[in-house]
Amino acid sequence: MNPPTICFIGAGNMASSLIRGLLADQHPPSGLRAADPVPAQREALAALGVTVSEDNTLMVRGADVVVAAVKPQVLGQVLTALPDLQPNQLIISICAGVPIASIESWCPAGQPVVRCMPNTPALLRAGITALIANAAVDARAREVADRILKAAGKTVWVADETQIDAVTAVSGSGPAYFFYVMEAMIKAGVDLGLTHELARELTIETAYGAALMAREGDTQPATLRVNVTSPGGTTERALNTLAAADVARHIEDAVRNAALRAQELAREFGQP
Ligand SMILES: NC(=O)c1ccc[n+]([C@@H]2O[C@H](COP(=O)([O-])OP(=O)(O)OC[C@H]3O[C@@H](n4cnc5c(N)ncnc54)[C@H](OP(=O)(O)O)[C@@H]3O)[C@@H](O)[C@H]2O)c1
Repeated sequence: MNPPTICFIGAGNMASSLIRGLLADQHPPSGLRAADPVPAQREALAALGVTVSEDNTLMVRGADVVVAAVKPQVLGQVLTALPDLQPNQLIISICAGVPIASIESWCPAGQPVVRCMPNTPALLRAGITALIANAAVDARAREVADRILKAAGKTVWVADETQIDAVTAVSGSGPAYFFYVMEAMIKAGVDLGLTHELARELTIETAYGAALMAREGDTQPATLRVNVTSPGGTTERALNTLAAADVARHIEDAVRNAALRAQELAREFGQP
């Protein structure tokens, strides 16, 4: 497959990391375009060989794929302002909370649309992105979308758009939950007499190591936890403290509430 010409509308954090990832994956710079009103964003990408402009229409014309990477609130205005979208141009939206039906309503009838939910580690190519396609997206276009989002890390496809709210609650907002736990562990380490620097290093390397253990092999996190909990030991005392405070239930509530908020935002951002 020849590399598609990909136009990014909005050249902020997410678009820049996808572009850097695509370049690292040997996508030719000549096949990359970006439109953004901010001169500094354009200059940074132009330095990588990407064709840039402040004119969205100019950049979109003739592109195979249009990646919408603006804030969700402006997506409707951006898409409805494009005068000549073609039926073979694949629209990929990474805008959190904007439903496919809204994106379709801002495009000509029959436009192929893929909606994605990436997460912040995408900035380091360590993200996970859930994707869903509308009926106009064929197998080849799915492959193209998958390849583009793989520039930010792993990809998973969901069959039902309602699952995107759950994805948003688990992996979209998820990095913040882990940062929250890390903050508390660093503070506890400092309270116990460690320097902030040492507490931070111990916490982060532990989180990283635990994530690697959970990712490798088939062992479930619950089993890994039991395996490192000796009866009468320090880990057991800590976990008993968490259980007494029903921390697991609070985490479940937090994730459920994030999903409810995602539904609210979908209603809000779905309006033009
Ligand atoms: N960052 C994340 O971790 C993350 C995770 C999941 C999903 N997302 C989604 O990714 C999208 C982009 O996020 P981001 O963090 O990359 O945002 P960002 O850094 O603010 O980038 C958006 C860029 O689009 C520009 N822009 C505004 N209006 C425009 C227009 N009409 N035409 C072209 N460009 C325009 C902005 O310029 P101004 O600064 O002048 O407005 C800005 O440079 C959002 O919809 C977000 O929901 C982000």
